[in-house]
Amino acid sequence: MELRMDAVFGRLRAGLQDALAEAREPLCAYVYDMQALHAHAARTMAALPQQCELFYAIKANSELPVLRTLAPLVHGFEVSSGGELAWVREHFPHTPVIFSGPGKLDGELQAALELGVDGLHLESVHEIERLGSLAARRADVAPGGRVPVLLRINLALDGLAETRLMMGGKPTPFGIPAAGLPAALARLRAYPQLALRGFHFHLLSHQLDAQAHLRLMASYLRQVKLWCAQHGLDIGHINVGGGIGVNYREEQAQFDWQGFCSELARLMQQEAMPGVKLRFELGRYMTAWCGYYAMEVIDIKASYGKTYVVGRGGTHHFRTPPAQGHSHPFHVMPVEAWPYPYARPQAQDTAVSVVGQLCTPKDVLAFDVPVSRVRCGDVLVFPLAGAYAWHISHHDFLRHRHPHQWYLHAEA
Ligand SMILES: Cc1ncc(COP(=O)(O)O)c(C=O)c1O
Repeated sequence: MELRMDAVFGRLRAGLQDALAEAREPLCAYVYDMQALHAHAARTMAALPQQCELFYAIKANSELPVLRTLAPLVHGFEVSSGGELAWVREHFPHTPVIFSGPGKLDGELQAALELGVDGLHLESVHEIERLGSLAARRADVAPGGRVPVLLRINLALDGLAETRLMMGGKPTPFGIPAAGLPAALARLRAYPQLALRGFHFHLLSHQLDAQAHLRLMASYLRQVKLWCAQHGLDIGHINVGGGIGVNYREEQAQFDWQGFCSELARLMQQEAMPGVKLRFELGRYMTAWCGYYAMEVIDIKASYGKTYVVGRGGTHHFRTPPAQGHSHPFHVMPVEAWPYPYARPQAQDTAVSVVGQLCTPKDVLAFDVPVSRVRCGDVLVFPLAGAYAWHISHHDFLRHRHPHQWYLHAEA
């Protein structure tokens, strides 16, 4: 996976120089490369084996230009709240939607019944009961009269290779523990309005190891086959969740999606379940690469042997580094204009930490990074900022102005 810094820098530079010339205050912006998003999504989809589907998990980035770029390429969108469902239905009335997430409200289940979804992922027996009761009161639950549901199962697997973010395979609030499946199926049968279409798993995120992920897929396939035989089930889907990671620490060592897909095709032939589709719901892997967070350097200072570069903005815009506990890679874009009559503060051939404008020592985006030169007025550009970046940030802490949002080639 290439970051295309040179190509993007050319376009960024031109846009940012214009913006800097006009700006009345230091610059702070998200820049999205829509051409790169389109190309990456098209490549990702083209590699998918037959009998596989890929939905985009919009929680990673639900900006409209992003969704408009992805909608024609993916099989649909995955939403995890009533707000996301309403957003998608308002702007994409015909795009297939699947609805996941813990703690769904009655109002959200009701909205799913009214707006129509391709699959509702149920997380507990109580959720089955609530949806069943709501559906029983409606005559028009779905074209066929039945609501398509998948049961989210928290599966404990021997030898499961853990990642940095586990949603299952151990005690978590997500899904129904495998031992609870017979009871869940019994409750489901009590509601003829609900049709079991399959099983949903999302045991982990941040997966960087394609072989480990293939082993996980094999475990899902075997387990579901066993359940179908044991309980006499006829299903159409196994939703294998999202979780394909992005390596923020080593940009050249990324998940091998192409290799994963070719081996998955072989695996699916071996473990054939005729008529059953494997459905992915990927977030981070789809959009991380298309986004850049750019901040102008406001101040540079030395403190007890460390050098701090203070940028316009911070983790209230770009929470990805503290959320992941990493030092985010960045590039220095030199800007020659300097409006003040005195010497320009700078750091040269030294390690710096990049911080934002928040009054907390936790507002750190990168730490102990060697730089050849960075000056006040230069712009720092953080790549890999297209997923779980703006959308997971606490925007209004300190009520700083929000960053600009630019979409390069939004027509792609
Ligand atoms: C149920 C579910 N599906 C899909 C995703 C998307 O995961 P990722 O962005 O790691 O692909 C998440 C993320 O938390 C999730 O909770």
